[in-house]
Amino acid sequence: MIRRFSDIGSSPELMLKAARVLTETFTTLGNCHWPDLESALKEVEECIAAPNICIGLCDDSELLGWVGLRPMYEKTWELHPLVVAPHCQRGGIGGLLVAELEKRARERGIIGIALGTDDENDQTSLSRVDIDAENIFKEIANIRNLNRHPFEFYKKCGYMIVGIIPNANGQRKPDIWMWKDIRI
Ligand SMILES: CC(C)(COP(=O)(O)OP(=O)(O)OC[C@H]1O[C@@H](n2cnc3c(N)ncnc32)[C@H](O)[C@@H]1OP(=O)(O)O)[C@@H](O)C(=O)NCCC(=O)NCCS
Repeated sequence: MIRRFSDIGSSPELMLKAARVLTETFTTLGNCHWPDLESALKEVEECIAAPNICIGLCDDSELLGWVGLRPMYEKTWELHPLVVAPHCQRGGIGGLLVAELEKRARERGIIGIALGTDDENDQTSLSRVDIDAENIFKEIANIRNLNRHPFEFYKKCGYMIVGIIPNANGQRKPDIWMWKDIRI
């Protein structure tokens, strides 16, 4: 079994596979951002647009997962999205994708990566409290993973929580912002 990284924009076939993985994975999670192939394909097209980086990990003809990076600040770009096909999750694919993305970002002179990871489905302790000026930093410092929220995956990849947007997606549905200095 040979695994290799490919640019998602290198063929229409790969773009279609990326759209399938995106819609299947997020629909499985009960998330309605990309409910159908059409909306997912539109997202893929945006992700491959210059100067973005958008790479997938393939195994023979199957696309196992993919990740994108787009400008945010001059030297710090935003990771969006990251998706691993449901039957391949927890097999190291996400970690490989993030490491390869960081390598390619460094080659472009980028020094940091930021990302937002929503908690829309009561997956962390941050969605159990109303956030205000008094408790925000304590709640961030004491965050607990209640149901497989990906912030813990990103922490294992070296990302730290730098803030949250309380109620980003509705009452007690925050967006968790993370960042990593990718210089070695
Ligand atoms: C989150 C996601 C990208 C992780 O990719 P993956 O291939 O499953 O993760 P890996 O196997 O590389 O995991 C690396 C480490 O993170 C841990 N991890 C992975 N997902 C996790 C989660 N949801 N919660 C807690 N820990 C997690 C793994 O257990 C592993 O830990 P270990 O090194 O101690 O064994 C993948 O599960 C996914 O696509 N999920 C659905 C879409 C999604 O949530 N995308 C991110 C949106 S911001």
